Amino acid sequence: MEEKKIDVKVCLGTTCFVMGASNLQELIDSVPKRYGDKVEVTGVPCLGLCSIDWKFSKAPYVKVDDDVIKEATIDKVFAAIDKKLGNS
Ligand code: FES
Repeated sequence: MEEKKIDVKVCLGTTCFVMGASNLQELIDSVPKRYGDKVEVTGVPCLGLCSIDWKFSKAPYVKVDDDVIKEATIDKVFAAIDKKLGNS
């Protein structure tokens, strides 16, 4: 049986990068170390969220499956992953 991985996408587009995603690049190393192959993490170009939500300036964005994390930090992303793993 195939296990479904949690899919984490770290936005590395310009807006998010300027707003702090440069720190989040660390997730690309730290997520696999912490969660092994339960979680797939990738850096992606602009998710298209910054332009919709630009007024509110909630970048940087990270997606954990279909959930959007605004003003993402490493701790918020880990918390979201933990929650999903706990629920599954
Ligand atoms: S740069 Fe991240 S959503 Fe646009």
